[in-house]
This record gives sequence, C-alpha cells and structure tokens, in this order.
Amino acid sequence: MEQYQENEIISMPRIGDAAPEFKAVTTQGDINFPADYKGDWVILFSHPADFTPVCTSEFITFATLEDKFAKANCKLVGLSIDGLYSHIAWLRTIKEKIEFNGMKNVEVNFPLIEDIKMDVAKKYGMIQPNESSTKAVRAVFFIDPKGIIRAIIYYPLSLGRNFDELYRVVVALQTADEFGVATPADWNPGDDVIVSPAGSCGTAKERMADTEIDCKDWFFCTKKLDKDTVLDKVLRKN
Ligand code: BEZ
Repeated sequence: MEQYQENEIISMPRIGDAAPEFKAVTTQGDINFPADYKGDWVILFSHPADFTPVCTSEFITFATLEDKFAKANCKLVGLSIDGLYSHIAWLRTIKEKIEFNGMKNVEVNFPLIEDIKMDVAKKYGMIQPNESSTKAVRAVFFIDPKGIIRAIIYYPLSLGRNFDELYRVVVALQTADEFGVATPADWNPGDDVIVSPAGSCGTAKERMADTEIDCKDWFFCTKKLDKDTVLDKVLRKN
C-alpha cells in the first residue's frame, strides 16, 4: 500500500488556482483533466475507500443527484485510492444490493478515478496524513468552465457531505458570475443578494440614494434578485 512519507511536501491547490492537470483511468474510460471539462462546471471529489458505508451513502446520493447537477451545467468526477476493479465491483454492489434513504438500484454513471499510486490525491491535497496517510479525506473542488478552482470544502473521514450545500455552492458561484453580485449567509435562489461594496465616496452616496438598493449602511447594500431570473440563467434548459 502506497503511504505518505513523513517529510513529504503536501501541495494544496487554492481558490483561484488553475486546477492541477492530470490524466487518469476511470470507471468511464480515460480522462484528461481539466481539459475534458472545459466549458462545464465540475465537482472533483475524493472519498476514503470503496466498500465503506459513509462513502456508499454518498455515492448513492451523488448518483441520484447527477441529473440535478447536470442541469446546473455541473459534472461530477470522483476519486479514491483504490484500483479500477475494486471501483467496478463496488459500483456493481451498490446497484445490486444497497438501498439508502429510499434510493435503490442506483447506477453510478459519472467517472470514478483509480488512484492507487495517489498521484492525483497528492496534487490536490486530498491526503491529510494526520487524518489518514493511506486514505483520501472527503475533499470537494468546485472548478469553473475555465478550469479555475472556485471553492474547496474538506470533510474528515467520519462525516458524510451535505448535498444541499454542494448544490447551493454551484448555484451561488454561477449567480455571482452571471449577475456580478455576492451572496450572503445561507443564501438560496430568491433571497436578496449583496451589491459589491462601494469603492469611492461618490458611489457610496449614490448607493444610499438608489431606491432599487436596500442599504443598511453604505457598505452593506442588498438588492432583490428574483428566483426565476436566477434559475433561468443558471439552470441549463434541456
Ligand atoms: C466510511 O466511508 O464509512 C468510512 C471510510 C473511512 C473511515 C471511516 C468511515
């Protein structure tokens, strides 16, 4: 089993970085990342190991939500430090035997990367040796259509991800890009959005006088953004 060496340097890509490039074998054939995903949003995520319960619950959920993410122009790519045949056997078992939260007969159609040598996991800081030196943590990289990392979430081995939050991040990032706004705490489509802070005294004065904008103070202004307007822009029309 491949192990992290104690003094090995851990690279951690950051928000705003170009997604590190790699070629890999997956359950859906070979991929060239992120080139194969140019023009799409993509969630690249790792899980600790095949044939483990939390991971199984996550894969069933990811696979069930794949269409919902696709409608938001977002593809899914998974990874663990297991071999291709383990991946295939696990995904077959999930389909044939496992029911979770009312979801059953679930087929995982998105690629699951084999990374037995940890090449990709190391590039993406998915191994966090004080948590485990042989298993990836539950990392989630949100990568935009230009191949730039836009958000990162890490969870430990014991904690299954919140899929409402993953979806909310995809929609909020696209909303920020499309409408030139920011999104406040717990934002969801239909909630007011944040108007970027005024960069001059003149703009601050204009903002305070603008009846379309609700300013609590010059630096904290929100405006309405209709749910349908957001969803029309963000959700791909099929
Ligand atoms: C799980 O997916 O159930 C799991 C994997 C590694 C450590 C702990 C839990």
